[in-house]
Amino acid sequence: MNTLTSPAQTNRQTILVCFLAALAGLLFGLDMGVIAGALPFIATEFDLSSHSQEIVVSVMMFGAALGALGSGPMSASLGRRKSLLLGALLFVIGSVGCAVAHNLEILVISRFILGLAVGVASFTAPLYLSEIAPERIRGSMISLYQLMITIGILAAFLSDTILSDGGHWRWMLGIITFPAIVLFVGVLTLPESPRWLAMKDKHELAAKVLKLLRNSDREAREELDQIRESVKIKQRGLQLFRHNPHFRRSTYLGVLLQFMQQFTGMTVIMYYAPKIFEIAGFTTTREQMWGTVIAGLTNVLATFIAIGLVDRWGRKPILKLGFSVMAICMGILGYMFFIGINGSMAQYTAVTVLLIFIVGFAMSAGPLIWVLCSEIQPLAGRDFGVTCSTMANWIANMIIGATFLTLIDTIGSPNTFWLYAVLNAVCIILTLVFVPETKNISLEHIERNLMRGAPLRLIGRQDDSRQHVEKPAL
Ligand code: BGC
Repeated sequence: MNTLTSPAQTNRQTILVCFLAALAGLLFGLDMGVIAGALPFIATEFDLSSHSQEIVVSVMMFGAALGALGSGPMSASLGRRKSLLLGALLFVIGSVGCAVAHNLEILVISRFILGLAVGVASFTAPLYLSEIAPERIRGSMISLYQLMITIGILAAFLSDTILSDGGHWRWMLGIITFPAIVLFVGVLTLPESPRWLAMKDKHELAAKVLKLLRNSDREAREELDQIRESVKIKQRGLQLFRHNPHFRRSTYLGVLLQFMQQFTGMTVIMYYAPKIFEIAGFTTTREQMWGTVIAGLTNVLATFIAIGLVDRWGRKPILKLGFSVMAICMGILGYMFFIGINGSMAQYTAVTVLLIFIVGFAMSAGPLIWVLCSEIQPLAGRDFGVTCSTMANWIANMIIGATFLTLIDTIGSPNTFWLYAVLNAVCIILTLVFVPETKNISLEHIERNLMRGAPLRLIGRQDDSRQHVEKPAL
């Protein structure tokens, strides 16, 4: 991943545009994080069972899966800018709805609307970012997006903590309306993606936008030529999926990767952090909330480790390390819950292990799965492939969010954490068998290897072009 090494060369307008689009990532994080602190108060006010609490948490992911599914066709026909605008509007409506909900039904509908917004944002923002950022900072821009998600989660945990003293859960949920309005107004000022304009044959407008965003007319002209060349390859994802077994493999790999990310159990910690601190023996709301803030801060800081290492160590070693750390931590936590957490020494040990788990995730699967999902798809099927994997993220997220409390209630805390330990161990094996190393390999090279039928774990190899591989079906 490139770094922002030469800010002077990078048009300030571009940075502003990217920042605004990344604000969508912040909202994504805010909405994911906010429920952790608000849930205990909501449960008390509406007298909710564990199952109803799970519905409140997971209906957002259901909306997000649908939002991501609809975003592919929507951003292709309406454009990236209008899709983002709709996403921002849904963020505003959903946040206000949550804040004023006077019964469970309204709350669930509002969370569903927020989910739609998150789904639209999680598909459209990275797409817009990758299309508008100059090549030399494209990698940093995708990392910036993940960083904004983690900052959003942390900000939500912080505001929850501050508001928890009076149990102001409506404010916790409602306060997100403000950044949502900023996003809406901000997106109004954003230019349309030059790539989308070119796809719609609006070349003059595309040239205008590029002139605004690039340092010189020459740079703008060269980029427009490249864009024109690449949009000649029409997106024909579904057709390709039906007829080409190799594209089916990369689509399934994207889906598998996102399931792996979710089955680490990180999302459970993000949604139910105060509850986990309660199980660990921290009985006061204050202790639980501050513990949650520290968890969010750890998540932000450890994301920088991934940004620094991803292009030096490569994807696979970091993923293997991350899954191993997470498997061990989940195993230890399960054991600690099994023998019982008595005394402050045991409590702090449990918290330390939990934080190490978070570091394990944030330095590996957190950002890397998103990076890999955008790298492994061939150009003609990229929109379709990324839609499928983004949807898989939300479906898996929903399964995890909707089952955690039931698992704790039925099989108990130790077994639940051991189950996650086993799932992380399975992820190590899946990484070894299926995940390619894509460090320093051009996307064209990956595509060539994939379409020649190279095994998935080898599609990032330089020398695969020399091996005999079967002819693609399309
Ligand atoms: C994941 C979320 C997770 C978050 C934590 C994202 O990449 O998709 O499910 O909760 O990272 O930082």
